[in-house]
Formats: sequence, C-alpha cells, structure tokens
Amino acid sequence: MCGIVGYVGNRQSLEVLIGGLRRLEYRGYDSAGVAVIGEDGRLSTHKKAGKLNVLTEELATSPIADGATGIGHTRWATHGGPTDGNAHPHLGDDGKLALIHNGIIENFAVLKEELLAEGYTFSSETDTEVAAVMLGREYRSAGDLTEAFRRLVGRLHGAFTLLAVHQDQPGVVVGARRNSPLVLGLGDGENFLGSDVAAFVEHTRRAVAIGQDQIVTIRPDSIEVTDFQGNPVETEPFEIAWDASAAEKGGWSSFMAKEISEEPEAIANTLRGRLVDGAVQLPELDGVGEVLADADRVLILACGTAAYAGTLGKYALEKWAGLPVDVELSHEFRYRDPVIGKKTVVVSISQSGETMDTLMAVKYAREQGATTLSICNTQGATIARESHAALYTHAGPEVAVASTKAFVAQVTALYLLALHLAAARGTLTPDQIRENLDELAGIPDKLRTVLEAGPEIRELARGMSDTRSVLFLGRHVGYPIALEGALKLKELAYIHAEGFAAGELKHGPIALIEPGQRVFVIVPSPRVSTSLHPKVVSNIQEIRARGAHVIAIAEQGDVAVLPFAEDVLRIPLAAPLFEPLLAVAPLQIFAMELAAAKGLDVDQPRNLAKSVTVE
Ligand code: M6R
Repeated sequence: MCGIVGYVGNRQSLEVLIGGLRRLEYRGYDSAGVAVIGEDGRLSTHKKAGKLNVLTEELATSPIADGATGIGHTRWATHGGPTDGNAHPHLGDDGKLALIHNGIIENFAVLKEELLAEGYTFSSETDTEVAAVMLGREYRSAGDLTEAFRRLVGRLHGAFTLLAVHQDQPGVVVGARRNSPLVLGLGDGENFLGSDVAAFVEHTRRAVAIGQDQIVTIRPDSIEVTDFQGNPVETEPFEIAWDASAAEKGGWSSFMAKEISEEPEAIANTLRGRLVDGAVQLPELDGVGEVLADADRVLILACGTAAYAGTLGKYALEKWAGLPVDVELSHEFRYRDPVIGKKTVVVSISQSGETMDTLMAVKYAREQGATTLSICNTQGATIARESHAALYTHAGPEVAVASTKAFVAQVTALYLLALHLAAARGTLTPDQIRENLDELAGIPDKLRTVLEAGPEIRELARGMSDTRSVLFLGRHVGYPIALEGALKLKELAYIHAEGFAAGELKHGPIALIEPGQRVFVIVPSPRVSTSLHPKVVSNIQEIRARGAHVIAIAEQGDVAVLPFAEDVLRIPLAAPLFEPLLAVAPLQIFAMELAAAKGLDVDQPRNLAKSVTVE
C-alpha cells in the first residue's frame, strides 16, 4: 500500500524521491506525487493519477524547482478515488506545507467538521488533506514543524505514517507513525525516511526502525526521535542485510519469475546457521524458551498466503511437537471472543511484517496475556517489534506483489519451529529430529529440479489462456497447496479459481464439474503406508467420469495417475510433510505464465497491494 519517501541532504531531492518511489512500486498504488522545497525557497508539488511514469512525464514537461528537501508518495486509494486531486502530497491552507500519509485517519470526519466550522476549505475527498490543513493550523501557532506534529498526532485516531515539509523550514523533514511503518536511513550529510528500507537502500544500508507512536525529525547532519509527548527515544541502528541489486530484476522477465527461481535459495537461507550437529538452533527464541516448552496450545494468525503456510505449520507442530494448533485469519480473530489460555502461544506469520490485520490481532493476543512469536521476512518490521520474539525468514526482498518465495521460507521457518519444540518437549528423539532436518536440508536441490520444468508448465499455461475457471484439489498437506494454487491464479490471471479439500468434493463442489473443467490435483505419495493416495486417485476418477480435464501434480514414478490425467507435472520423492515445498512451485509458475499469456502485469496485479497496511 502507499509508499513514502523523504529526503534531506546535499543533492537534488527529486531524483532520490523518484528512485525511492520506484523501489516502493511493488507495494501497489494508483497515483503518485512529490513535494520539494526548491532552491528558490518555495514549496512546489506535482501529483498525478496513474503509474509513476505519468508523474515523471509531467515533471519533464512542466518541471518544478528542485532542491535538497523533499517528500514523495505513491497512493493506494482508500478515501476517494485515484484522481490527481486525491493524490498526495496535500497542502496546508497557505500552500507552504505539504504532507503525505499512509494509513487511515478514522476520526477525519469529526476533524473536518471542526476545520470547516473555522472556515477552512478542502479540495479533495481524502482523510489526509484534513491532517494537512490541521498541521498547517498547528504550525502557525507553534512556529516549528516538529512541535506542530506533536500537537497534530494527539488529535488523530487510527493508523498513520505521516511525513511533512514546510517551506519556512528548508532542510527539515518530519515524520510520525502509529500502527503503520516508517524507517529511517542514515546517510553521510543526508538522511532518508521510507515506508521500508527499499526506499533508500540504494543510498545507505544503515537504518533505524521508527517505533510505535514516535516522531522523527531529520536534517542533513542530524536525526531526532521522540515519543508523541516529546521525550527523547534511543535509536538502535541496524544493517540492512541485502543490497539494492537484490531488489533488481537482473535480466528476468518479471520480479515474480526471479523470485520463484530464488525459492531454493530462500529455503537454504532460512535454514542457514540454524542446523547445528543435527539439531535446531534458534537463539532468537531463548527469551520465550520456557513458555514454548510449557505451551499447551498454539494459535497461528496470518492472512492470505501466509495463512496457508500457517496450515502447513499446524500439521508439522501437531505431528512433531504434539501440540494442538489452530490457524485463524487475523482479521477474524479479535472480533469474536477468542479463548486464550495462559499457556497459549500465538505465532503470527507475515512476509511484510506490516499487515495491519495481523498486527492488530497480535496486539490483541498480547493484551489477553498470550506469548507472541512472529515469523517475518522484513527486518525491523512492526509485527516483529510488537511480538515477544521474532523468527526471521531470510527469503530476501520480495518485490512482486503476490507472494512466492516468502511462502516456502515461511513453511521452512515453521518446520524449524516445530522441530525445535519437538526437541524441547521431548516428543521426537534426536535421531528423528536429525532425519527430518536432513530431509529439509535436501529440499533446495529437489526444488531446483522442479523449477527445471518451467518451459513445460509455460506450454501448459499458454494452452489454457482462454480458461475461465480452474479448480484445485488436495488432501492433508496438499489442501493448503490447493488453496494457494487457486489464490495465485485469481491474483495473477484474474480467473475464477477455487481450492478444495479433495475429500470435500462429493459433499458439494463436485456439482461444479462439467465437461472440460480444468482441475489441478495435488496427489500424495503412494509410498506412505497409511496413504491417502488411493483415495485421491478415486477422486480423480470421479471427476474424470464427469468430463473434467485433470492436471495432476504427482511424485516421480507414480504411474497410478497416468490413465486418468491429461497432464502430469512431476515432483521428486519427499516425505509427506515436505511435499508441499515442492508442489507449490508448479502452481505458482502456472499462474504466472497464464497471466503473462494474457498480457497481464504479473508483478503488480490490479487492485492488490503488497503490504496491506489498512484493516
Ligand atoms: O505481508 P503478509 O505476509 O502479512 O501478507 C499477507 C497477505 O496479504 C499476502 O500473503 C497476500 O495474500 C498475497 N497477495 C498473496 O500473494
């Protein structure tokens, strides 16, 4: 969702701002704008509906005076459509102050009434303009942007990251955040602010995550961070673990193609340093070690793809650590009366670490007394900071809006957690743990062989570019993969797609089967003694009898599916819990290739945002 960049330093800011906004494009947006205090000392803004190129073309034909202080924004519309007028920045009433915003100001209507009664007027439908006008009013009495911010944030409810500049204070950018991300980049004679580190990683790899309810003021040679009351806050700089090139396409046709190709590495990086002598080492969980060993229930909270990873985590935690596990969509969680016992451990999963639904659920669980552990991919993310402990996946930056490599890294982290708990609780022997870890460590190589089938899957997808509906079936660990396959196809190719537990088929969904209906079936291994294999093969026969066109994802050597499937995509042999790490890639590639065949933008699908920072 909205991307935010701020710059103050010794060079022209427009290039820095536009470069930062380009790197934040992946978050999803529908308009863009900049505000700069020019060398002439005046504040200028430009903002346009549409992609960043529309704005840069406008800046080329009607340039604004550049200068060393500026802010830039990409907007994902909430209050008011994606128009030039609703795009950010918004100005104070005297045109001297510009403000950008990510989040939702829930009490904006009340504040707007107050300002209207005082005679202020508005030119947009946004909640942000209300904050801009109010900040301008506060600035007039405070005479200082940081102090004006303090007065403003005390009046706002909801979620916000705000950044502003005032033409009477060149060389200063002020930001504030509540329930929405803001990161500071530390430069030499220059400083940066961004929604995430991608905004400035090209210029510096030293960063500070701005905490909840904090205000930050940057100047070329100084930074100041306080809480909303003005009390100084100590900052803890961290080193960004990847460089700008990690977030480049590097010759691939799309970020998604690149990120799927990086899945073996994402798994290997998540394991790196955590497998020692056949055991799991997770020192980051030491602080909650006793609670974890003594837990009587795990509750997993996540949304979308992360929730499907969570379901696989449930199967692993139940099997290996013997713990009862529930998986719940974060946005459903706190609006009922969830029962959270003293020994409940809440595990949240979020690639971005900023998903508002998950953040709010974690906070609620914490208030109810739960121990909270987050699995995140983004360093310094809010959810990680709000949890008692954080286990980072090391998938590297995921730029494409739809999640791919982050998913396999999340499953890997959950499996590590499950084996760690199995050791702590004594539910598996050291040999059993070693055996599972060996299997996990072997997955990256097996996945590389799966990815080699990319051209075959592309052909399959091209042949289906006119398909209007695809169904996905799976059982046990194949079920969340069926759900993920359907989600990917909806997101990328805008095709109606549904995932079902194969066993549920005869309880209703089989009515959807008609001649020619495409159905992907994730077939479990035939090698397991209590195998589901014959049952899934029966399911395939049932739908084939009704005319379905079956595409099976089956283990190498499984010949039982051959008479009943039009197409078979092969995966290498693996123990059941590890099959999903191999079976998901063909579905991701299929969705990507089908979208590409339809001429769609696979990296930035319509209406979607990478980081969903509103509830
Ligand atoms: O950043 P998060 O992992 O918290 O995001 C959760 C979901 O919004 C995300 O997985 C979403 O479903 C993606 N569009 C999936 O491709």
